[in-house]
Amino acid sequence: MAAMTPASWAAGWGGADTPGTAATDRASGATGRGGAGRPDAHAGRDSLDTDHIKSDFPVLAAAGDGDRIVYLDSASSSQKPRQVIDAMSTYYESSHANVHRGLYRLASEADRLYEEARTLTGRFIGATDPEREVVFTKNSTESINLVSFSWGYQNLQPGDVVVATEMEHHANIVPWINLHESRGIELRIIPLGDDYELDLTSLDELLDGAKLVACTLMSNVLGTVPPFRRIADAAHAAGALVLADGAQLVPHSPVDVRDLGCDFLAFSGHKMLGPTGIGVLWGRAELLDSMPPFMGGGGMIRDVRFEGIVPADIPTRFEAGTPPIAEAVGLGAAIRYLEALGMDRIQAHGRALTEYAVSALTARLGAGIEIMHPLDPEAGAVLSLALPGVHPHDVAQVLADSGICVRAGHHCAKPLMRRLGVGATARASMYLYNDESDIDALGDALERAAKLFG
Ligand SMILES: Cc1ncc(COP(=O)(O)O)c(C=O)c1O
Repeated sequence: MAAMTPASWAAGWGGADTPGTAATDRASGATGRGGAGRPDAHAGRDSLDTDHIKSDFPVLAAAGDGDRIVYLDSASSSQKPRQVIDAMSTYYESSHANVHRGLYRLASEADRLYEEARTLTGRFIGATDPEREVVFTKNSTESINLVSFSWGYQNLQPGDVVVATEMEHHANIVPWINLHESRGIELRIIPLGDDYELDLTSLDELLDGAKLVACTLMSNVLGTVPPFRRIADAAHAAGALVLADGAQLVPHSPVDVRDLGCDFLAFSGHKMLGPTGIGVLWGRAELLDSMPPFMGGGGMIRDVRFEGIVPADIPTRFEAGTPPIAEAVGLGAAIRYLEALGMDRIQAHGRALTEYAVSALTARLGAGIEIMHPLDPEAGAVLSLALPGVHPHDVAQVLADSGICVRAGHHCAKPLMRRLGVGATARASMYLYNDESDIDALGDALERAAKLFG
């Protein structure tokens, strides 16, 4: 693929938002359940106060000057603020019991907190009926597999078409390949252009006869944010349902399922300040209601006889076994933290920092760095980097020696790696606690790597 030149970057980034121009005043009274720190202390300002934010994150705040951690791997998993950690500890210390089973006070309190997290999560993504439309899963991967197993086996016959894109994470490819192999469905792929944007030239032909379109809201390798609404409208016009993989976008931007026009949305708690072990599948209520259970066991049934079962109503029909209760509490605290900062400001911060990173790295390393990222100023805060002739793992190792955390590898997107003509990239991904000093440290270390291997 063609490398971007500094001049083309400058042209493409001319209209980028900056935090200072994206002021919102979403001051919320919400504080984390743990009570330590006050995320709302940041609210109401035009740009994010990253020093203050960093102090909320024990991992980032703990290190002394010599051991500074520059965390640029949030696309893999974000760090956790004290508010989330405390909310989960407080839950375990004062409210834990299994949910949907007990009548005693602890059990009622656990029920209340678990369902409150569901409502918060639903409201966060604009769900009209959060109590029925939000299913808690383990992660985005499980959410997408839930759709492929439950909706897929019920609705897809041999020869039916599922459309995905060339930049999907394996979580949104492998379930459809499995259905190709087990059910004989046809998998069609929307290609990626040389500009790191989807090539929609043949969209109508690809959608012809499609039953489902499964598309990411943001590439975890390139930061590309596709024109999702356009794809969704075309898919619906062709008679297909639309699944949005929100694992990367939901942590960074305001997301409203009604504006997206999707039928399913999958995302993960651990990439948006929440704990590992909890993910979300949002689905339109009437769709979820028509789908059979994904897994069988306790909690998901209304009645069981040896002759057969009567499944529970949605969403518990899809939550077999003891669910991730403390993790739901943690996710709720993460959402409160994000909302107190304001998703608009978080988005503006990510865009401005990405613009700074592209300009600064290009200015410092010139032709000595390839930055795989589209020109679109609305693209996400993820940059795949290559130093010509240097293996990405060597780059990542030199960065690690300087306390800079990036991920090197195929990023669970092997088809995309093939399209890019590389086996791996070094990926820097930014979040609300990163600032220009982190990018400067990245630039210093990349220059060291270039000299070392040059
Ligand atoms: C775009 C995208 N989709 C899905 C996933 C899978 O997320 P999880 O591992 O939390 O299931 C990821 C993880 O990196 C991702 O970036």
